[in-house]
Amino acid sequence: MEIKRAWYKEMSFYQIWPRSFKDSNGDGIGDLGGILEKLDYIKSLNVDGIWFSPLYVSPNNDYGYDIADYKNINSEYGTLEDMKKVINEAHKRGLKIIMDLVINHTSNEHYWFKEARKSVDNPYHNYYIWRKGRGKDGKKAPNNWKSNFPGSAWEYVPECDEYYLHIFDVGQPDLNMDNPAVREEIKGIIRFWLDLGIDGFREDVINYISKVEGLPNGFPLPVMTGMEKYINGPHLFEYLQEFNEVYNEYPEVMTVGEVLLVNEKKMLEFIGEDNQVLKTMFNFEQLEGDCIKASWAHTHFMLPKLKKIYEKWQRALYGKGWNTLFLENHDQPRIINRYGDVNYRTESGKLLATMYIMQSGNPYIYQGQEIGMLNLELPNIESYPDVNSQTFYKAFRKFGFSDKFAMKRVHYSARDNARTPVQWDSTKNAGFTTGEPWFTVNPNYQEINVEKEEQNPDSILNCYRKLLKIRKENDVLIYGDFTLYYRNSKKWFVYSREFEGKKALIICNFTNKEIKAKVPKEFDLSKGTLLMSTYIDHNELSGNTYIAKPYEARVYLF
Ligand code: NOJ
Repeated sequence: MEIKRAWYKEMSFYQIWPRSFKDSNGDGIGDLGGILEKLDYIKSLNVDGIWFSPLYVSPNNDYGYDIADYKNINSEYGTLEDMKKVINEAHKRGLKIIMDLVINHTSNEHYWFKEARKSVDNPYHNYYIWRKGRGKDGKKAPNNWKSNFPGSAWEYVPECDEYYLHIFDVGQPDLNMDNPAVREEIKGIIRFWLDLGIDGFREDVINYISKVEGLPNGFPLPVMTGMEKYINGPHLFEYLQEFNEVYNEYPEVMTVGEVLLVNEKKMLEFIGEDNQVLKTMFNFEQLEGDCIKASWAHTHFMLPKLKKIYEKWQRALYGKGWNTLFLENHDQPRIINRYGDVNYRTESGKLLATMYIMQSGNPYIYQGQEIGMLNLELPNIESYPDVNSQTFYKAFRKFGFSDKFAMKRVHYSARDNARTPVQWDSTKNAGFTTGEPWFTVNPNYQEINVEKEEQNPDSILNCYRKLLKIRKENDVLIYGDFTLYYRNSKKWFVYSREFEGKKALIICNFTNKEIKAKVPKEFDLSKGTLLMSTYIDHNELSGNTYIAKPYEARVYLF
């Protein structure tokens, strides 16, 4: 299979969730000043770009994913001038910047919505999705759709005697993308930021933006009822094509779509190289190694299942479209608690890093992942700020589960796990702020922090640096075809990459034991170069094998 080289395929990204990254003015909230201070650190990871979760003006019902002004920066984070400085300084260091484009919905505090809700005749009314209530007295919601954050997807507005649709929180009304005026606004937003100098967008729940005409009832489910009526909707491709025309006015725009419930075939309709309307899309199946669809429905970690998922996507996209690789983001609990082993935090953290970064696709690293930050356990639901944790907890209780059970789920699955302040050092508040942090600093910060990781050449942090460096230096690790070995093994994740006569072999021991490495017959390790092991003091080869240390991963080049 032929594979085309392209600038964007070679990139890797660091994701910043600004509120918890680094505070520079002592108000307890991360900000652009803090980001500026840490640009050299980010560069030192050997990434090529930064994805910023929303920095725009927002009442923070969903921490920035509810936007009240798309063309300005939330004053908690700084000003537009500060943002220009960050863009400039990042570019000086060779880092590209992508921003979050959240266009399925706005905040209910956006000017458009404040106008829209005034009356059915308001010029902005049709920017959103409104319907009359059902039933004799019109008191029943327009259809049976449920929000992605448990609860109804409709909210009544007396001034209009209509309900508006909100697929997320009640403070996040869905935009009516079928209205050409709305699409023009979106194009204006895209141009505004590209003109300011950014390099692209991560597009929030982008496959939700086109709803089936008439908004018919959906298949009844405990959450997300109606999703088959708005996911991958009838005009999605058309609208993305329209936005793509704007991207094409600029050189080298990076785009990555957040899409839920998309199989490989569907994804290729959007990212396929012959008909590309987005460069890449996030495939969430790679986070299903320990759950059914979402971490709220978690199971134990199943390595063979995870390997098959990876293999399926590596095979399906190779040579046809470009993949993305990620283990964490601001919506996901920490990966060591999921796929790794907290008793072997460093060892399993490095193993997981190697396992995913050496595959084909753009690696994304979420803040704190590179130092092996872990989940947090808070005593009660009131201590969890995220609206999603709150609504899931309530839903569990409503279905009759005990507080203990519901809290156990929250401890494992809450997005708040990823939103604790980044642990920079072992001083008060982990060096995140000199003030009162907006959210709990994980009490393990004296053990786990950037400063400590910097000092240890064998740390998780230094492993990420090495992996991203060897990926850059070896085309086979970027463009190579993927082959999986020992598909059903519960102990080993072994795969190879192959490109232009070069081969790489990646051998990952997923056990906490010292065991003899399994090496596919066609490879002679003594003829290969060991590009890296996750242990500095790894064992020497003995014949065509070696004794792998607990959770050791190796990369060989041939
Ligand atoms: C996906 C975002 O990643 C998440 O944080 C947000 O809550 C929803 N989309 C709604 O915007």
